[in-house]
Order: sequence, then C-alpha cells, then structure tokens
Amino acid sequence: MADQAGAASGMPESFIEAVRSAKSVAVLTGAGVSAESGVPTFRDAQTGLWARYDPQQLATPEAFRANPELVWEWYRWRRELVSKAQPNPGHFALAAIEEKVSDFTLITQNVDSLHRLAGSNNVVEVHGNIMKTCCFDCSADAEEEDASKAEVKVPRCQLCGGMLRPGVVWFGESLVADVLRTATEASQRCDVFFSIGTSSAVYPAAALPFEALTHGAMVIEINPDKTPFTPRATYSIQAPSGEALPALVEAIWPDAGSPNAH
Ligand code: OAD
Repeated sequence: MADQAGAASGMPESFIEAVRSAKSVAVLTGAGVSAESGVPTFRDAQTGLWARYDPQQLATPEAFRANPELVWEWYRWRRELVSKAQPNPGHFALAAIEEKVSDFTLITQNVDSLHRLAGSNNVVEVHGNIMKTCCFDCSADAEEEDASKAEVKVPRCQLCGGMLRPGVVWFGESLVADVLRTATEASQRCDVFFSIGTSSAVYPAAALPFEALTHGAMVIEINPDKTPFTPRATYSIQAPSGEALPALVEAIWPDAGSPNAH
C-alpha cells in the first residue's frame, strides 16, 4: 500500500533521509512533467485544430503509411509548440537533484528537450526527440532543415529517396536496444527511483519502476492522479510535479538554492 507524502510538508523523515543518502537515483518522467510548460499530455483532450484526432492514432507507422502528410502536419504543429515551451520548476528541480547525487540517470519518455534545457545532463530519451528527423526506410539521420520546410509536405531522404519522419518512437515500434538497456540498468542499480508525470500505461517504459522495486529500490511516484503503479509505490505524492519537486528538493537539500534560479 502506498504511503501518501505531502507535496510541501509532512514528508516522513525516513523518506527524506533515504533520498538524501541515496548513492544512485533513477528518474522516469512522462508527459505530465511538461504539462506545466504548456505541452499537452497524450491523454489530455487535444485542442483547436487537432481536437478531432487521437494522438494514439497519429503516432503510429500505420498512420504514417496511410497519410504521411497528415502525420507531418501534426508533428510540425507539435514541433512549433515544443520550440516555444520553457522548462518549469519541476524540470529545474530535477537538474538540482542531479547535482546532489553521484549516480543520477534521468530516463524520459518526453521528446521535447526540456530536461536538457533545464540543465539536466545524464538524460536518456527512450522515445527519441521530436526535433530529430530520420528516414522511414533506411533509418539514416537527416538534417532538420529537410523537414522544417512547410511547403515540402513529406520530405525525402537524400540517400535513398524514402520518406523522412520525426525521430521519435511510435506506438507499435521497438525502443532502441542500447537506450532501453541503459534505462533498465539504471533502474536496477538505483537506491531510489522516481516515477513522475507518467500514466504508467505504455510499455516497456512502464516496466522500469517495477524493475526498481524488484531490485530493492524505494519508488516514489509524483502525479496528481492515480495510475496503475500507484498501489505499488513506496510513496505516492499526489501533486503536480512543478510544485512537488521544488518542495522535495527544498526539504531534502535546503542548501540547494532555488531550483528556478538556473
Ligand atoms: P500520458 O499522457 O499517458 O500521461 C500523463 C500523466 O501525467 C498522467 O498520468 C497525468 O495524470 C499526469 N500529469 C498531468 N499533469 C501533471 C503534472 N502537472 N505533474 C505531474 N503529472 C501530471 O503521458 P506518458 O505517460 O508520458 O509515447 O505517456 C507515455 C507515452 O505514451 C509517451 O511517451 C508517448 C505516449 O503516447 C510514444 O509516443 C511512443
């Protein structure tokens, strides 16, 4: 049964001490961490132009084969949204934790680069990066400019002529083996694991908190809503990450300074 830890106060001393003394920390983040930066989560209702489309029906190889122009249009809109987004206090707090822990791995399902922008260094992007472009056929990386020209509806690979696509992992696709291995090993060796802003619904990333638990780590979930993982979490902090994470850093490392000050 998950213990409830308050966002700003009432954190049990055992919890604070365990995080403070951790030698190895792994963090898994999902779309919820970027919600306070204005990037909609996958399970939020979409707004405006894209309200009638389900992201789960656009972010697939099948959707791309069936209508590459539509999928590119959606990604150009998301790229624009992401390029205007700024890290929020939750992102900065995670960068502050990295400075305090010798072995720190930030595994993110987010494709928006906001963790790096906030100053995090050891970031493992398990679902790729939306600003990257590669070939659907030969997988070669492509220059960003090839894809950013809005007049070119479906940009083409200069090597093989295949359709270019955004460098993200779509539903039904496998994660890059080395990347998944790095994420799994970090989850298995950590003392403390955080699962933050993720619905814990999309595998294999959703298996990582379970890997951590199985290997004896304390697992803390931060999410305003309950998820399938909540009953298994050692502590569940039911609050937005942009509030809970700075409060947690302040409680554990009062000398860390304001995580917003980067
Ligand atoms: P989801 O959209 O599935 O879930 C977002 C989670 O964030 C939900 O559990 C929300 O309750 C929570 N949330 C919302 N606002 C929050 C806040 N301010 N602070 C903390 N949590 C908040 O996003 P992911 O779990 O990241 O994959 O989705 C996993 C993957 O499914 C994505 O990477 C993407 C997707 O479809 C691919 O594209 C392969």
